Amino acid sequence: MSMRLKVTLVITALVVCAMTLTLRSLAQTPASAPPASAAPPRPAPEQAPAPTPDFSKATWDLPANADKTKNPVEPTEESVAKGKELFMGKKGNCVFCHGETGAGNAENLPKLRRKPADLSDKERMTSISDGEIFWKVTRGIPGIMPGREKQLTEEERWQVVNYVRTLAKDKPAM
Ligand code: HEC
Repeated sequence: MSMRLKVTLVITALVVCAMTLTLRSLAQTPASAPPASAAPPRPAPEQAPAPTPDFSKATWDLPANADKTKNPVEPTEESVAKGKELFMGKKGNCVFCHGETGAGNAENLPKLRRKPADLSDKERMTSISDGEIFWKVTRGIPGIMPGREKQLTEEERWQVVNYVRTLAKDKPAM
């Protein structure tokens, strides 16, 4: 083999090696890859969006003995009237789900994740204490019924309890 041919072969081999390395490194860092200093990349589109939480099994989380909590607010006409104002008004907005009679707001029912309890059901309502209603209104159920601990003072929540008590009605005789 002539010297010239040897040199040509070596150069060709080197060129092939260099091209292979270049192609491999290009394959590993696609041209679109952001520089290392750039902000973290957005999540890949195929990554599923955060799923909507499933509230179907959410329930009350009440303190132990919640039902034993005594109602410190007398159900006077004044307190019941205040409670009604809160129940119907924007601050309490119970009416949105429970409706004016407590039996449910038919208009909003399709928007709700769960059918509201019937606050006009006398049998049911006489079986639960003021304390239990108070704590249910205070805490609510995540995603189902908003707790009103922040919107209503303790006294206001008891006023609402006193108003809720007036909604229980005997079922009309069938
Ligand atoms: C977003 C709709 C919604 C709003 C607003 C709402 N509730 Fe409810 N409420 C519900 C649902 C749904 C339930 C039934 C929950 C369950 O037990 O599964 C319920 C249950 C209750 C119960 C329990 C009754 C029982 O049988 O144990 C009381 C008491 C009650 N609500 C009072 C209120 C009061 C008072 C307000 C306003 C301060 C209010 N709710 C606001 C949806 C709502």
